[in-house]
Amino acid sequence: MDIKIVPLPAEKMKSKIADQSQLGFGKYFTDRMLVIEWKSGQGWFNGRIEPYAPFVLDPSSAVFHYAQEIFEGLKAYKWVDGRVALFRPEMNARRFNQSGDRVCMPELPEELFLDGINKLVSLEQEWIPTAESTSLYIRPAMIAVEPFLGVHPSDHFYFFVILSPVGAYYAAGFNPIKIMVEDKYVRAVPGGTGEAKTGGNYASSLKAGLEAKQKGYDQVLWLDGRERRFIEEVGAMNMFFAYGTHIVTAPLSGSILSGVTRDSVLKLAPTLGYTVEERQIDVNELMADIRSGRVTEAFGSGTAAVITPVGNLCYKDEVVELTGGKVGTVTQKLYDTLTGIQTGKLKDDFGWVKFVE
Ligand code: COI
Repeated sequence: MDIKIVPLPAEKMKSKIADQSQLGFGKYFTDRMLVIEWKSGQGWFNGRIEPYAPFVLDPSSAVFHYAQEIFEGLKAYKWVDGRVALFRPEMNARRFNQSGDRVCMPELPEELFLDGINKLVSLEQEWIPTAESTSLYIRPAMIAVEPFLGVHPSDHFYFFVILSPVGAYYAAGFNPIKIMVEDKYVRAVPGGTGEAKTGGNYASSLKAGLEAKQKGYDQVLWLDGRERRFIEEVGAMNMFFAYGTHIVTAPLSGSILSGVTRDSVLKLAPTLGYTVEERQIDVNELMADIRSGRVTEAFGSGTAAVITPVGNLCYKDEVVELTGGKVGTVTQKLYDTLTGIQTGKLKDDFGWVKFVE
């Protein structure tokens, strides 16, 4: 499909954020967005890159009532030689369709997902920040726009991509965050939508997140929805625990997100001399292992969160500390290696980087 480029009038061009240390996460958006529509009987049509602007949608649009929505997150990096790199974008294209399948959305050809992002990022590359720990966050999403109040899969969708220059996801930057293990609410159960990147999962996590924040924690760590015993994930990250040089993470059980960064950590760690294991992690054993010092580090992984050290875990009012407020050596090494590959400072032996043309 041809993606039309709608001219951007000079008066619609925004000024770039001068102080990149103030970017934060997801607050600013670039000048243009990509939109492609799908209708049943017609397929994908009307692909265009147009000035960033609000959508005008019928209040009865299905997305507003029944949350038929999916999204993705990936990043673009400006290398010192001027090239623009994406990190494993084909993984996002594939997962987007897996999420869409779960909530009855049409398949978007992977080439169209990748080509659309490539063209948009290429046009908007002046927006990619270059300061340490910054990047251009890419947010593809799909929403159901059929105006109809019956509960059924929509017959009309918008796929769109917006871009946001970002710094660290957590206000603390690359410093240990505090996590509360959630034992009241559940995020997902087997057979549910936990594995899909769909907005409803995040809406249902908000209350737990708010209550954790009121107690002084940055995020909640979800337990499995059946027994409330096994570690699942943090809303914006998969979780890893280091037993010295042995790194453990929860398996892809069907109720957690199959993270691109998670997969990258599992592949990178062995090249750095660490062993990795995907296994069920019982929260009681985990707490005992942290108490006894067997668990030496904990960190989360995600596109937005990159590698985020966890310094403090609370479960049923018991608080355990890790690494004494510092960033552990395994966490630091993985962060440096991953971001080194993403930003072109280290060689990419995996073929993960794809350049924007
Ligand atoms: C990402 O890491 O890209 C995500 O989608 C997490 C998001 C909820 C901020």
